[in-house]
Amino acid sequence: MTGANFIAEHVKPIGSSGIRRVFELGATMENPINLSIGQPDFPVPQNIKDAMIQAIRDDHNGYTVTRGMPALRDRISEQLKEEFDWSPDVFVTSGLSGGLLLALMACINPGGEVIFPDPYFVSYTHLVKLVGGVPKPVSLYDDFQLNPDRIEAAITDKTKMIMLCSPGNPTGIVFRDDDVKAVAELARKHDLLIVSDEIYNMLSYDGPPPSAVQHAPERTLLLRGFSKSYAMTGLRLGYAAGPTTLISEMAKLQQYTFVCAPQPVQYGGLAALDTDMSAEVEIYRKKRDLVCSELEGAFEFCKPSGGFYVFPKAPAQYANATEFIEQAISQNVLIIPGEVFSERDTHFRISYAASDDHIRQGCQILKGLAG
Ligand SMILES: Cc1ncc(COP(=O)(O)O)c(C=O)c1O
Repeated sequence: MTGANFIAEHVKPIGSSGIRRVFELGATMENPINLSIGQPDFPVPQNIKDAMIQAIRDDHNGYTVTRGMPALRDRISEQLKEEFDWSPDVFVTSGLSGGLLLALMACINPGGEVIFPDPYFVSYTHLVKLVGGVPKPVSLYDDFQLNPDRIEAAITDKTKMIMLCSPGNPTGIVFRDDDVKAVAELARKHDLLIVSDEIYNMLSYDGPPPSAVQHAPERTLLLRGFSKSYAMTGLRLGYAAGPTTLISEMAKLQQYTFVCAPQPVQYGGLAALDTDMSAEVEIYRKKRDLVCSELEGAFEFCKPSGGFYVFPKAPAQYANATEFIEQAISQNVLIIPGEVFSERDTHFRISYAASDDHIRQGCQILKGLAG
């Protein structure tokens, strides 16, 4: 008995993430050139590890209050005040993903529509459907900049939320401030919530990324995390900041789901917020420059300004990006087909969270396949 009969109907159509499939394939290959990984290749800084180990030794292993340790919340509030002159309610989540699920659970009625730019982070479509909503991806091809006109054209009387992600996954594109402002105005005009996924906010190479918080703080739910900035992907820590009622409804739902973020990791988060990551950011800026110079001339792509991804177009001689990726994988290079993040299968994602040697070797092989 496989147990298939126990599975709910609305869960069956959800496929396993294409990223996971490549991840699992990578685990079976001998020494692949892995340019598919969505996590930094630097270790968690030592002071953060020490803070977590000390917390475990000091028996700080129990539940915390649902919203997270007051000391951590206070430090987050201080940073938001400093960054945006903003004093929202703040609440500690189990990774940004935890905050995203709770936000959707709290806000989306059956049939409620959620607009987000395409390409998008893999979870968006699935989580929206899981809570009974309807995903409304809006194409940003081919420059991947936020396009307020296209966003407005997608708004209906069922629209509840606009989700933005900048720097973006899979594009690495940082949206222009004017466009973020225009979308914030649309949200105000149509009484919509903006969910701003800023998981890559610290990995930004050409200036600070504009945020919806600067333009519509009263209707923005800011979601941030520690996964990418501090390489804490497995430790599951993030935070949500935004309107009072929304934060209390999300906290209510947290009581019955995640309960709280792991306490020792919250101690790590507190140490993280006072950790200087500029050296790591500088290394990633150089990796961004390296991958761009390797791809230049051989692939069409938009230069990324943040995160650790670039999203080039598959060469024209392939039927689609998946066909190109199959060839790349047969030559030992792991990359992700664009259809994982999009309604289209024309592009592919390279993660440059890898050694410089692997970036160079992988790009050489991809260039060979491009002919
Ligand atoms: C755009 C985006 N949002 C959210 C997440 C998930 O972050 P977390 O590990 O904090 O749940 C990721 C991870 O890849 C991401 O790329």
